[in-house]
Amino acid sequence: MSNALIDTQHRMQMLLCRKLEIAIKTAQPEQTIQRVILELKKFAEFHFISEQNLMHEIGYPQVAEHAQIHNTLLIELQVELSKIRLHNQYQEDLMSRVYAWFNDHVVEDDLKVAEFAKTSPQRPIGEELYQEFLGSPAAVAGD
Ligand SMILES: [Fe+2]
Ligand SMILES: [Fe+2]
Repeated sequence: MSNALIDTQHRMQMLLCRKLEIAIKTAQPEQTIQRVILELKKFAEFHFISEQNLMHEIGYPQVAEHAQIHNTLLIELQVELSKIRLHNQYQEDLMSRVYAWFNDHVVEDDLKVAEFAKTSPQRPIGEELYQEFLGSPAAVAGD
């Protein structure tokens, strides 16, 4: 993925996955685990809307299909997070499924959007702000 905004959000999403893993591993109180789960889930919802907006802005042809995948992923994520909430203990397979859920989509589906964004004449709204707010010169779109 080479869209600076989406890249940044993907890193944030991964950070929240790791945060949840640590919260579980360090046996935080149930209420704390629940709050971290809510944080992760809300960010996923935010990220999907943000990514869908970007797709509309650049004229990506398969927005509806990609949005449908997002909706399915949110349901799957909800199921996995509910299991974690239910067991309230670290289970290797549950957390690794949350990681897999995230990684597979980024590699398989989001990559197509990134490739399209590179050459689309329609540019994301506020693209000129990416460098200012997201950091390194390498973060400039089209990079
Ligand atoms: Fe994404
Ligand atoms: Fe996506």
